[in-house]
Amino acid sequence: MRIDTVELKDLDEIYNLERKFFKKDAFSKDLIFNLIMKNFFFFKLIDGELSNEIIGFIIIIQDREDRVNLINFLIRKRNQNKGCGTYLLSYTIKKVKKMPNIKTIVLNVNSKNKVAIKLYQKFNFRIVQKIENYYRQKEGAYLMVLNI
Ligand SMILES: CC(C)(COP(=O)(O)OP(=O)(O)OC[C@H]1O[C@@H](n2cnc3c(N)ncnc32)[C@H](O)[C@@H]1OP(=O)(O)O)[C@@H](O)C(=O)NCCC(=O)NCCS
Repeated sequence: MRIDTVELKDLDEIYNLERKFFKKDAFSKDLIFNLIMKNFFFFKLIDGELSNEIIGFIIIIQDREDRVNLINFLIRKRNQNKGCGTYLLSYTIKKVKKMPNIKTIVLNVNSKNKVAIKLYQKFNFRIVQKIENYYRQKEGAYLMVLNI
């Protein structure tokens, strides 16, 4: 497995993964295109051994002078629960720590998404707020914060 920066040639593969899991809440192709062009942290995890297929990805944008926002994170279904998410998140947090002036990472997670919440808590993210009706299907989200 290896981690690399997402490029324009990955757009369709990323969009297909995104739609498969997030369905109606999926990012549009235009948004993913813009995120690739903007040079934020947009990393892909690649299988590497059997193929160069993308196993998962993570997107971080800087939304304040001292803060980044983890806006998307996904590991392909058949690769979940094998340590891939931990590996990609750990790599990304290390990269963020090297950014000058960044003091916090924030994210929103579906309040029913126990696996993701547990993973974030493993990296010391704390739940600071519950936001009702955050998603299209009216499900709530937690705002989580990591001070770095
Ligand atoms: C959340 C997600 C990225 C985690 O990735 P992953 O590769 O499965 O995570 P890991 O294998 O590193 O596991 C992380 C922890 O969750 C646990 N876990 C993972 N899948 C699990 C499952 N299906 N049931 C129970 N626990 C599970 C692991 O045991 C591990 O705990 P540990 O560190 O105490 O052993 C992945 O499940 C995913 O893509 N989900 C769909 C999209 C999503 O929810 N994204 C987050 C949006 S905010």
